[in-house]
Amino acid sequence: MFRNRDFLANRAGKLFIEGVNSETLAEKFSTPLYVYSETRIRSNIQRLKNALQKYIPHHQLYYAVKANSNLSVLSIIRSEGLGADASCIAEVELAKRVRFSQEKILYSGIYHSDTELQQGLQHKVAFNFDALSSALRCLKFGKPPLFSMRVNPGMGDGKFSGLVFAGPEAKFGVEADDAVAAYRAAKKAGVKRFGLHMMTGSGVLNPKYFPAITAKLMEIATRIVKEVGIEFEFIDIGGGLGIPYSPKEKPLPIDWIIKNIAKTFTAAVKKNKLGNPKLMLEPGRYLVGDAGVLLTKVHTLKRMYGKNFVGVDAGMQTLVRPAMYGAYHEILNASDLNQNKKEKVSVVGPACENTDQFAKGRILPKIVEGDLVAILDVGSYGFVMSSQYNNRARPAEILVKGKEARIIRERETLSEIIGKQTLPKYLQK
Ligand SMILES: Cc1ncc(COP(=O)(O)O)c(C=O)c1O
Repeated sequence: MFRNRDFLANRAGKLFIEGVNSETLAEKFSTPLYVYSETRIRSNIQRLKNALQKYIPHHQLYYAVKANSNLSVLSIIRSEGLGADASCIAEVELAKRVRFSQEKILYSGIYHSDTELQQGLQHKVAFNFDALSSALRCLKFGKPPLFSMRVNPGMGDGKFSGLVFAGPEAKFGVEADDAVAAYRAAKKAGVKRFGLHMMTGSGVLNPKYFPAITAKLMEIATRIVKEVGIEFEFIDIGGGLGIPYSPKEKPLPIDWIIKNIAKTFTAAVKKNKLGNPKLMLEPGRYLVGDAGVLLTKVHTLKRMYGKNFVGVDAGMQTLVRPAMYGAYHEILNASDLNQNKKEKVSVVGPACENTDQFAKGRILPKIVEGDLVAILDVGSYGFVMSSQYNNRARPAEILVKGKEARIIRERETLSEIIGKQTLPKYLQK
């Protein structure tokens, strides 16, 4: 039932998240409710760190802030010694707020505006550019402490087509020619520290993909080093490590993957005399994805044209992945885990869109009105992608550690939903 999610337990039919009864959480904090396991986040980090330490001690591990940017989650990650990959200035500021050192923040904006470039320079953080134009405009304003280009190595992979971030259809990164031009300009402008970056897709479950894409990046690194005459402090292969969402999927063999990435990386560095770059990774999903559970209450059951609908109080505004990608998330009846009777149901939310369905025609243990349902693996790209669609408040977030549960973000209020609006005088009559 829980597979590799060792922070979940069935105690007398009730879902426990670490040592806390999910029904107690729902009663105390109401629903829908995001709940994260601190222990699971730390063990996900440890698993990856162990493999890196074993095969390539000369590495640096960063966390993609966008995956889950709650300050408490960031704080846990910083305490484990990781750096922060920030996709925008707000994420740079969040990382600083929880004391990531300036030296360990990589600002990887996309299609930067001049304002963003100037703000990034004021923050004195390392820059990662995804366009030649952005890099050249930035150099007019000042010199970033470290200059990196995000390349599009011509191929990518991802769980859904919207999660393929490289290759001919992608909007991200630059071709090698533009990267060469950018590094030349940076060198000429007096930049002394360089990195190289790619991020080619998300939610990848094919282990062989990672060494293969690393090999591609190393070819590009070699060309840049030779043609521009610089050395890289790091070569960053991005994130992308997938997690198994459906019971048919298996967890990645992380030891094998890191071993083979390290082999490819080290061999290329040696053969092509690339100096002494660190291998850098910046995963998001792999570190926090399976550590989050969305608790949602069942309010309305309905049968229509032979189909059963289970209406819950979370919707696509709470968790958009099913509506956005058709993503699968496992669903448990947190109030009645020992229920043996099964039914074919669609679990749906209250948003006014027919894509607002967490499961369509899925066989699930019987659910009745008043039950608490748990949607699993929502720790990444869950709350951070939530919205106020249909004027619904964003949910609260809870951090669980052992028997302790702490609120780490309050539920939004109606005044927060409408409060920024102004009604022009002539419309007030
Ligand atoms: C630049 C960059 N790095 C890292 C990540 C993290 O990806 P993942 O959560 O798949 O590991 C992303 C995700 O979009 C990204 O855009």
